[in-house]
Amino acid sequence: MLGRELRLLWRACSLRLIALCLAFFLCTHFFTELRRKSWPHAELVVKGQAREPGLSVEEHSRRTEEVPSKRQVIYVRRNNRGGSSGRRGGDSSLHKRDALKPVRWHIDLQPWAGPSHSLSEEATRFLHYITKSQIVCSQLVTNGLTKESVENGKPWTVCLDDRFSLAHQIRNQQCRMYSLGLGDDDSLFEVNMASGGCEVHRFDPSIGSAHIHEGERLWHHRLSVDWRDPNPAIAAHRLHSNTKKLSTILNEFGHWKIDILKADMESAEWKILENLVLEGIVEQIGQLVVEIHLHWPGFEVSGNDSTVVRYWYSLLKELERKDFRLFYTYKDLSKPQLFLKKEAFNASSCYILSWVNTRW
Ligand SMILES: *[C@@H]1O[C@H](CO)[C@@H](O)[C@H](O)[C@H]1NC(C)=O
Ligand SMILES: *[C@@H]1O[C@H](CO)[C@@H](O)[C@H](O)[C@H]1NC(C)=O
Repeated sequence: MLGRELRLLWRACSLRLIALCLAFFLCTHFFTELRRKSWPHAELVVKGQAREPGLSVEEHSRRTEEVPSKRQVIYVRRNNRGGSSGRRGGDSSLHKRDALKPVRWHIDLQPWAGPSHSLSEEATRFLHYITKSQIVCSQLVTNGLTKESVENGKPWTVCLDDRFSLAHQIRNQQCRMYSLGLGDDDSLFEVNMASGGCEVHRFDPSIGSAHIHEGERLWHHRLSVDWRDPNPAIAAHRLHSNTKKLSTILNEFGHWKIDILKADMESAEWKILENLVLEGIVEQIGQLVVEIHLHWPGFEVSGNDSTVVRYWYSLLKELERKDFRLFYTYKDLSKPQLFLKKEAFNASSCYILSWVNTRW
């Protein structure tokens, strides 16, 4: 009786033992399989890394040993992807970097020209600054690509020295010019640049239709460039209120760069320039040809006279900080010789200045 019970007990125990062993074996097998499947993956990634030229043998083996967990594998792969897109350095990464530009709300004001903050100190510094070229251009071209000089008309001047991109862009027929004006100007410069191979966009709020295509490469757009976009509520009520910021126009036209920006904006040039500096648009411009007006502060420029002149000067210094260099300066003696409504400082109310972006 006892012997039988013992035998039964023994059999139950051994059965349990066998089941336990089986379970243990299955578990071990399962985990080994799992591990084997995840390993080749990690090794592949590390091999990819090893192709980097700067990586020493020790570094490589250290990294191979360091890849036991999945989390690290993912980290290595991400790292790798970032590196390869950096090497490509294409337009997309440029645009991405561009989108991360910090927003600026005001330009950096230069120190006062002198301790008394007087108008004469500010005016002397400013007038000296705008009448002195900062760089020598040996191929100045005025009013278009034809060499014949134009007697009447303003001397809009660009620099075709080979060290700047404009000359190459014109040769490759990839030159683009924007001309901002208010309609009272002749378009000789624009017509000549278009016939010389530039794609010219003229923004003029006074024309009859929204867009006019003249000749092969000259467009007129019924748009006025401003330093802000219009309030949508107001814009809806005004007829032809086609006023836009340059950045908005560039976006809408799908243009990334402008080889020449010409601006003849009757005192709106200060706020427009400020907007281009603050939004970082000025870096997309190769050469700037601007008529500046000094007989009054300009639209929405406020403060006493010395504050205004200091602001003008600071704005132009911002261009210099972006590696723009003044290569041409012209004092218009046909205009009233007024400086902030005063006949003073031997100044004209009107100057034409040309800068080249030396980063291009
Ligand atoms: C103009 O205003 C600035 C700042 O408001 C002041 O520092 C400066 O002395 C003023 N200049 C004159 C000539 O009044
Ligand atoms: C005034 O400026 C003109 C050039 O713009 C110059 O020829 C002339 O000498 C200047 N006059 C004085 C008094 O500085």
